[in-house]
Amino acid sequence: MQIIRELSGLGPTLLPWREAGQTIALLPTMGALHQGHLDLVTASRRVADRVIATIFVNPLQFNDPADLDRYPRTEAADCEKLRASGCDAVWIGAASDLYPDGFATTISVTGITERWEGAHRPGHFDGVATVVAKLFIAVMPDAAIFGEKDWQQLAVIKRMTADLGLPIAVHGYPTVRENDGLAMSSRNALLSTDERKAAPSLHAILRHAAGEIGDGKAVEETISRAIRELQSKGFGPVDYLAYVDGGSLEPLTDYRDGGRLIVAAFLGTTRLIDNIRVVSATASD
Ligand code: PAJ
Repeated sequence: MQIIRELSGLGPTLLPWREAGQTIALLPTMGALHQGHLDLVTASRRVADRVIATIFVNPLQFNDPADLDRYPRTEAADCEKLRASGCDAVWIGAASDLYPDGFATTISVTGITERWEGAHRPGHFDGVATVVAKLFIAVMPDAAIFGEKDWQQLAVIKRMTADLGLPIAVHGYPTVRENDGLAMSSRNALLSTDERKAAPSLHAILRHAAGEIGDGKAVEETISRAIRELQSKGFGPVDYLAYVDGGSLEPLTDYRDGGRLIVAAFLGTTRLIDNIRVVSATASD
């Protein structure tokens, strides 16, 4: 696996692939890799001949400097995991390459970014859209893979890619979970032993609420009950728990095809997010 540390190192890696007529998939990450990320490497292999991952803890998308400071950084282990998963190259982004002196350009997606994560993390999606646009332009892959775990992020990137007319197929990949249902996340490493024990309730409560909405129960009541349940399991502030249209992220008041339950809640000082599809009990699939 090739390890690239400078923007100028990308060409010598990508060019021979292109000349050989090979397609390229890009897998952007912030490192601290877990099995969820590595499953994305496998998924990337299925959509292109070559896979290039990126590791860059993007300061622009952290609205809280303390969150940026304590974000886990495990570069050597990450490279080893990517290599073992069959990644062809990794670009470890340097801040000076991504944000050169005087950097003054922002990619801002309106509408879809304004609720939920966007409302609770001001500037977050501008940071995500800007860095992903830069990674897309630098690599110009045929495809790019993102996890459904960050459902709103995936929707924002699809919107941005379409709006900028970038010829890149954006693929979503289902959330990879621990055996107890907790969505894998780099932030899980920050949970204390007791918090880790409580954390799977997030998915369990989401599933239960999704079942109720799928059964036709009242959405508002179901959500209020689910929030109370989360709090009884030790979760602190619930930033949001909402039933939304999976495409527009607009709230839904009744069961609708394509609806999703999305949640962000604190466990101690760690903020966890998750989401699941809501399927009608009467659906045939
Ligand atoms: P990061 O949190 O490192 O995630 C990298 C990719 O892995 C994202 O597409 C994310 O949705 C996906 N992912 C994380 N946990 C997952 C899981 N349990 N199952 C499936 N996919 C999972 O998301 C980012 O980085 C950044 O915002 C980034 C897109 C790299 C821009 O900086």
